[in-house]
Amino acid sequence: MATQVQYARLGGPEVLEVVDVPDPVAPAGGVVVAVRAAGINPIDGKLRSGVRPSPPITGPRVPGSDAAGVVVATGDGVDGWHAGDEVVVRNARGAYTTHLVADASQLVRKPGPVSWEQAAAIGVPVGTAHQALISLGVGPGTTLLIHGGSGSVGRAAIQLARRLGARVVATASPANHERLRELGAHPVAYGPGLVDRLRAAAPGGYDRILDAAGTDEALEASFELVDDRHRIGTIVAGPRAAELGILAWGGGNPVPMTPAELALRDDAYPLALDLIAAGEFEVDVARTFPLREAAEAARLVEGGHPGGKVLLLP
Ligand SMILES: NC(=O)c1ccc[n+]([C@@H]2O[C@H](COP(=O)([O-])OP(=O)(O)OC[C@H]3O[C@@H](n4cnc5c(N)ncnc54)[C@H](OP(=O)(O)O)[C@@H]3O)[C@@H](O)[C@H]2O)c1
Repeated sequence: MATQVQYARLGGPEVLEVVDVPDPVAPAGGVVVAVRAAGINPIDGKLRSGVRPSPPITGPRVPGSDAAGVVVATGDGVDGWHAGDEVVVRNARGAYTTHLVADASQLVRKPGPVSWEQAAAIGVPVGTAHQALISLGVGPGTTLLIHGGSGSVGRAAIQLARRLGARVVATASPANHERLRELGAHPVAYGPGLVDRLRAAAPGGYDRILDAAGTDEALEASFELVDDRHRIGTIVAGPRAAELGILAWGGGNPVPMTPAELALRDDAYPLALDLIAAGEFEVDVARTFPLREAAEAARLVEGGHPGGKVLLLP
């Protein structure tokens, strides 16, 4: 039997159920992956609670888009992948499971030195960070502000922006400041007085702003610091982006991402895997949970301050 986490109605973490289901069979062109780690992302809870609209529920839904594991079965017509291959599944559908069905085209080979937790942590966060930085035009000499710098997206964005040659100021709770300094950012606490602290942190001003917090405070501070709103991009306040005149990628933006933006997200998998394997990119794991504790794991993420990546280890 396989085990999966699912929900059949919208609601808080308590609607998550852990159920046994028959082992899936690899479809033509696809594989079954025995999941070793699945990343929890804030979007999983937004979809489950209904904060982010989705089509009506017609059957149990298994959350999760980030998984890494071992191929255990291949379907007809699968070339180049075999049982025993260690993989990351791009854009997984239903990652909170012991056995995940994926199309062969979704597989990326996991280098040996990369842990299961690291491999399952890169998809949504690193893909988003990489795409947003490139779409914003961050490069050598850019002074970049990241709102939400201590989140999984923010920590990835700090490291990737530094590699691009940018100077980075990032907002976070004080408890996370030391870690953000180690990652290469100048940390600033959000909250009252934010704009003054941000001005002091970059007296020459900001060239680009990445909003991974989505709060009114972050957006209003951004408008005080940068005049050209096309230099501000959000991954959270998508529904308000057009009215505010800022860039947005996903995050509830009614305008879908372009094929080029989606391709940038896919490019991040091999990029991050190679950097992690070379010891040049770090993933901060806050906590791991077994599948049966998925509701507790979801509560940690949905509290808004997980302190790093939260993963399920089936
Ligand atoms: N558009 C997309 O494609 C896309 C992709 C990935 C993520 N997202 C969204 O981006 C956001 C961040 O994702 P994540 O995975 O990085 O989240 P995460 O790891 O759960 O981190 C949450 C972050 O929010 C910060 N935060 C909490 N309350 C805040 C406040 N009042 N003001 C400013 N910052 C605050 C936390 O800072 P402290 O803990 O330091 O307080 C932390 O940095 C989520 O809303 C997520 O849904 C969008």
